[in-house]
Amino acid sequence: MPTITIDGKSVEVEKGTTLLAAAQKLGVYIPRYCYHPKLSVSGNCRMCLVEVEKAPKLVTACSTEAAEGMIVRTASDKVKAARRDVLEYLLINHPLDCPICDQAGECGLQDYYMEYSLARSRFKMADKARRQKRRAVGPHLVLDNERCILCTRCVRFCSEVTRTSELEVMERADHSYIDLKEGKALDNGYSLNIADNCPVGAFTSRDFRFKQRVWFLKKTPTVCLGCATGCLMEAHHNENTIYRLMPSPNAETNTWLCDHGRLTYKAVRAGDRLTKGVIKNGLIDLEPALREAGARIDEARGAVAVLGSPWLSVEDNAALARLAKDSVKTENYCFDFASEPGIKDGILINKDPAPNTSGTGLVKTAHGGLSLEELSRRIAAGQIKVVLAEARAAGLLKDTLKAAAPLLVIFAANKGEIPAGTYATLPYASYFETPGTFVNYQGLRRRTAPPVEAPEGVKPLWAVVNKLAAYSGASLQLDSAEDALKGIVFK
Ligand code: SF4
Ligand code: SF4
Ligand code: FES
Repeated sequence: MPTITIDGKSVEVEKGTTLLAAAQKLGVYIPRYCYHPKLSVSGNCRMCLVEVEKAPKLVTACSTEAAEGMIVRTASDKVKAARRDVLEYLLINHPLDCPICDQAGECGLQDYYMEYSLARSRFKMADKARRQKRRAVGPHLVLDNERCILCTRCVRFCSEVTRTSELEVMERADHSYIDLKEGKALDNGYSLNIADNCPVGAFTSRDFRFKQRVWFLKKTPTVCLGCATGCLMEAHHNENTIYRLMPSPNAETNTWLCDHGRLTYKAVRAGDRLTKGVIKNGLIDLEPALREAGARIDEARGAVAVLGSPWLSVEDNAALARLAKDSVKTENYCFDFASEPGIKDGILINKDPAPNTSGTGLVKTAHGGLSLEELSRRIAAGQIKVVLAEARAAGLLKDTLKAAAPLLVIFAANKGEIPAGTYATLPYASYFETPGTFVNYQGLRRRTAPPVEAPEGVKPLWAVVNKLAAYSGASLQLDSAEDALKGIVFK
């Protein structure tokens, strides 16, 4: 384990540690463009140059390994001058269109220029090399070659992470530019990470472009519910609107986000978002919708089934279990969902598309209930007259429900989720609007945090269930989501 000195401070590091990582351990920041902790070292941008005593030239901190006794300086006059030179070089052909660039506010060029340069350009605008300006590459990205500093992070991401190798550096020297390989499209399912990783505004997200200046955005850490992987992420929002989701890199689950997960926030403000109840096809206020659903449940007493959902939080499933047991008083309820968990593509996307199959298992342990097969058999046998279910969970019994045609009371956040033939639909707040506990495929307990508020009158599902209980049997007296959790044991 070599011991080295960086800016007068001594640090012992593992063999093979780079100077950049060793400095990081000491809390010394070395600027970088091409370096990314999860990509191979390229060493092409030269922004990380540092001085090593007795070395003839400055060295790149991202690609130089620490050796016993090294004395490193990261802020000497020589290093400062080198950083200024590198920035001048990178900015020579840069279009400087910051006022209309979506990266402004989080751009590596802007930030480092302010921190390490502040030099006036010796280059005339008219002499700058021209490159292709904005063009769509793939469903989610726009590429502006003129802004590119050729750090190759995008190229390495596509060859090392997704292994789809769509991108390449074309030509040589100052003719170089990034482009798609012939016949390739940038649609690998993780492409929006390229916009995050691009240190300048060359690759930008088609979804986020021009929607909001980044300095207006507030950040709320939350969890992706796009599948059982349960990636950690941040919702970036302003004035009760989410504008983008960004990964929160962590050791347990994810460095990146898949494109599907990253765009899940769009359902919150989609045109088909439900803010009222639906009886048959007519919209009505929540209260009369609950009264009507409650009356139908009451009529069918003894032949009512309640289906939990691996798409709902532990709290909301627990509230449904309480509804079945304590209010409707039926034994026809099910929180038994099996799915093969595991990473489908070797990167992040899970074989289980539901985020809380493990969490429903906890509700089953606490409250019991039927297996999905047994509930399905009872519905098919005509023993069930009314089924209460979350929309996507109802899809798991699609054929049985279609054949037996019980009266369906569905909890749904968006109209597009409602199964055909549903009698009553009750809206609920999405997990971008209300907190909830989810257990991912690794058994990690994670809680969503609401970055935005639900539309007026739309309540969390546990609260809707609480009101429905009052209309269809005994009141559950739930004052909070936590009240529903009584009896649930988290491992
Ligand atoms: S497009 Fe962005 S990530 Fe790709 S090489 Fe250029 S600057 Fe780097
Ligand atoms: S892999 Fe799953 S949890 Fe992760 S971002 Fe994609 S959909 Fe969301
Ligand atoms: S970060 Fe070291 S050369 Fe680019």
